[in-house]
Amino acid sequence: MMFSDRFNRVITYLRISVTERCNFRCIYCMPAEGIALVPKVELLSFEEIARVVSVGAKLGLSKIRLTGGEPTIRHDLPELVAMISDIDGINEIAMTTNGARLSELAKPLRQAGLSRINISLDTLRPDRSVELTRRDLLPAVLKGADDALAAGFTPLKFNAVVLRGINDDELCDLASFAHERGSQMRFIEYMPMGSVRTDERNRTVTMREMLERLRERFDLVPEPGNLSDPARGWVCRRSGARIGFITSMSEHFCDSCNRMRLTAEGGLRPCLHQNAEVDLKSVIRGGGDDNDVEDAFKRAADLKWAGHQMNAFVPIYSSKDMLRIGG
Ligand code: 5AD
Ligand code: SF4
Repeated sequence: MMFSDRFNRVITYLRISVTERCNFRCIYCMPAEGIALVPKVELLSFEEIARVVSVGAKLGLSKIRLTGGEPTIRHDLPELVAMISDIDGINEIAMTTNGARLSELAKPLRQAGLSRINISLDTLRPDRSVELTRRDLLPAVLKGADDALAAGFTPLKFNAVVLRGINDDELCDLASFAHERGSQMRFIEYMPMGSVRTDERNRTVTMREMLERLRERFDLVPEPGNLSDPARGWVCRRSGARIGFITSMSEHFCDSCNRMRLTAEGGLRPCLHQNAEVDLKSVIRGGGDDNDVEDAFKRAADLKWAGHQMNAFVPIYSSKDMLRIGG
């Protein structure tokens, strides 16, 4: 009865990109001029997204994450959250955001039923933030984080993509920043993918190397793993600071993968790194019933690979940029 793939991995988690747009232009994600935007009619409506989620929930999905692009750019996002939180079987709705609009949105999102927020924060230095995001919005992000904490989103998770020669000297500062806010800092191994790969593979800093640097300030021991969370957790014995690593490059976590992705345009993707996609939008707009939607989910599950090949000798790059798939 469980919704699983060919490798007996049970799928419980759907990441939904609600827009491809973003108010930032992070150098590893978007070209400076932005991307060609698809017309709004091509995006799934809130009603369509909610319908997909309710069929998915009957199959066994229990956790949703809203991503983008930047999800807070989509108008009336709290309405979508409220619609999803009304669906039986969904017990967690999380969101990954750059944080710049949280001052305005944290409260309404909380009231609508959002459970958790991850904020992308690659640097604490204003000048560097401008270089990295091509926007002067670090103050808005920091205020957004405080307002999210005040609205009840505790603990927060802060995510930093670590880029050699760009922000890899800030690991300790970022970890302290998160700890001072009762929250966890998570470091993401940079994945060279899409059309804006900053500088190919030598930009990636592995967990091993990051741990070495963090040990200058933190007395880190591993935390017991949680199978549904790909982050490898560590904790500082002295301070209790919690630090996580998303080891996409050095140690992939595909064996315990429990997820699928829905693109803003209504494509169901089995994996971030797989170009295969089931065209769910055509199913819905072509008048498909719930059985047809369910069938689309099953087809997408059948497409899932055993694991990605990002760290193989010859790397395979996704032809789709991160922002189109939802990071
Ligand atoms: N490698 C690793 N992480 C990435 N993200 C975006 N592009 C990449 C990449 N190439 C992250 C963002 C954000 C999340 C949505 O995905 O920084 O934390
Ligand atoms: Fe926007 Fe996130 Fe991409 Fe930065 S990484 S440009 S914040 S979608």
